[in-house]
Amino acid sequence: MAIFLIDFPPEDMERRLSDALAVYVDAMRYPRGTENQRAAMWLEHIRRRGWQAAAVVESKVGLGRKAPSAEELSDAPLLGVAYGYPGAPGQWWQQQVVLGLQRGGLPPDDIAQLMNSYFELTELHIHPRAQGRGLGEALARRLLANRDERNVLLSTPEAGDDEANRAWRLYRRLGFTDIIRRYHFAGDPRAFAILGRRLPLP
Ligand SMILES: CC(C)(COP(=O)(O)OP(=O)(O)OC[C@H]1O[C@@H](n2cnc3c(N)ncnc32)[C@H](O)[C@@H]1OP(=O)(O)O)[C@@H](O)C(=O)NCCC(=O)NCCS
Repeated sequence: MAIFLIDFPPEDMERRLSDALAVYVDAMRYPRGTENQRAAMWLEHIRRRGWQAAAVVESKVGLGRKAPSAEELSDAPLLGVAYGYPGAPGQWWQQQVVLGLQRGGLPPDDIAQLMNSYFELTELHIHPRAQGRGLGEALARRLLANRDERNVLLSTPEAGDDEANRAWRLYRRLGFTDIIRRYHFAGDPRAFAILGRRLPLP
């Protein structure tokens, strides 16, 4: 088996939505069935302007066998998925983050500088059987490589002061810094961090 990073256009995400959601649910260790709640939201995200996704797939390559075609790769077993889209004023997530920045006392010009041009890295997941091999970083880099927004922003559950999980290690290694810490999105009891950095990645 060999591993490939591929672009994942909207039609592939729609066609393979249940496979992508299965990676997400297994990666996040959510209970089975969570994917049914998320499907409508992911489909709505696909339709947002500037939406972009990338995926990690595994495919057989053997002696005497040609490299798999783009079509074969788009149907190959999924090991990872990531997507995002440009932030826009009507979006709930942006409104929540702006509210948090205002409450934190950030001046309006600084808020505008941060929020006027950013790519929201909405989802980034590697299946547990493929984690810890650098694939998450490769996938994030692939997705962010050609974006023309000024910044990239994301939210991730807080993981304690030692930030001891793979997602946090990855974000720090990629140079993400704190935008807001211990933030509570409306309707969610969990504390989140909003992290961000300038684009492009080095
Ligand atoms: C967060 C997540 C996407 C990171 O992806 P990943 O492929 O597991 O991790 P990375 O790309 O950061 O890989 C780095 C790890 O691989 C190891 N590694 C092995 N070979 C490597 C290589 N050739 N290159 C880079 N790293 C390599 C590193 O030592 C590092 O190990 P460590 O995390 O124990 O320090 C993934 O773990 C995941 O889906 N987690 C659950 C879901 C989640 O938390 N998603 C984010 C929610 S906001």
